[in-house]
Amino acid sequence: KFMGDPDFIEDKTQMLISEEYLKNRWRNFSFEKATPSAEVGKIIAQPKESNETTHISIIDKFGNAVAVTTTLNGLYGSKVVVKGGGYFLNNEMDDFSVKPGVPNMFGAVGGEANKIEPNKRMLSSMTPTIVLKNGKPYIVVGTPGGTTIPTSVYQSIVNVIDFKMTPSSAVNSAKFHHQWLPEVVFVEKNFPENTLKILEQKNYKFEKRGGIGRTEMIVIDEKGNATAVADSRGDDSVAVE
Ligand code: DON
Repeated sequence: KFMGDPDFIEDKTQMLISEEYLKNRWRNFSFEKATPSAEVGKIIAQPKESNETTHISIIDKFGNAVAVTTTLNGLYGSKVVVKGGGYFLNNEMDDFSVKPGVPNMFGAVGGEANKIEPNKRMLSSMTPTIVLKNGKPYIVVGTPGGTTIPTSVYQSIVNVIDFKMTPSSAVNSAKFHHQWLPEVVFVEKNFPENTLKILEQKNYKFEKRGGIGRTEMIVIDEKGNATAVADSRGDDSVAVE
């Protein structure tokens, strides 16, 4: 309450070190029981905001599905807060190719097609996806992760449809990613070693890296029952209302 640059606030040091104030402070101190912080001062709950892209997959009881991926792009976006709005502007300009052959912050190298031009929209890897089966939502899925977004989404879908994995295994099993340049296939640390050995003999180069994607997936069976999975790579969660 009282701490701050004394050039900007009323300096209360003398009051804080006064006998009278200190005696008063001791009056509600207990050697037996810790004082909950909320009893000391009003705690204002702070919403936790991730510093990157965020995805949410939703299905309601009527079968309506929503997949939303939203982004600031880099950490704190452009670092510019809208006056009076309280939110950051993104730095999506990085998703344009600044010039052919020059990588953006995700190492993606684009060409003329993605060069900066007035009224043009930059490329985006964001891939919020709803897979339909017989005209109805079957898989609702998406993830953050820059250029690895379509990779994670695609592999998760293939894992369900082609490899018949449970939604949890589909999301949490080891992923790989390749984007032409750099000339290396990124794999998660738990990627099967024998697969890597076989592929290395075929001239593939690998680099191990941290988690690829944080995929949030809902799979809806023929009876309309939904199984929701939050990626265990992060602090993601599932909520059922
Ligand atoms: O639209 C895109 O592809 C990027 N701006 C997404 C950035 C992103 O996912 C960053 N966070 N992980």
